[in-house]
Amino acid sequence: MSIRPLVILPDAQLRIISAPVKSIDKDLTQLVGDMFETMYDAPGIGLAAIQIGQPLRVVTIDLSKKEGEQQPQVFINPEIVWASDDRSSYEEGCLSIPEYYAEVTRPARVKVRYRNETGEEREVLAEGLLATCLQHEIDHLNGVLFIDHISKLKRTMVVKKFTKLAKERGEG
Ligand code: NI
Repeated sequence: MSIRPLVILPDAQLRIISAPVKSIDKDLTQLVGDMFETMYDAPGIGLAAIQIGQPLRVVTIDLSKKEGEQQPQVFINPEIVWASDDRSSYEEGCLSIPEYYAEVTRPARVKVRYRNETGEEREVLAEGLLATCLQHEIDHLNGVLFIDHISKLKRTMVVKKFTKLAKERGEG
């Protein structure tokens, strides 16, 4: 396992629609391992494979707060099969948009169908932070970022700022 470099806004990879995982093999296990290592190192509570440059429908999440009590969760080919009408707001952030946070309103509860790390089909009825995190990460698989859910003015400002930073790093 290794820590991989994070893909940062405005990198065009973040707009790629990721492909479904076809088989749970050694490469996938390796990818999941790298995703957890990268996510814990950042640190972050959720990561989509495209954030380390792999356009596959894989999400890792760990909402545990305390060190030594990790609760790693893997979602392969996750799909929202139901969303509640009631909504809730969270201040969201993203490892691909470092140190920027904004309030986002989404369905308060979602039912997500996915495969676990051994390929078994599972369903989870998520609420609270898990519901928000799953929706945020599934958005990544579709090339959508949390800043797409905020006002156009705020989005333009944050994209401008990160474009300038990328130029300063010599990536522009
Ligand atoms: Ni994100």
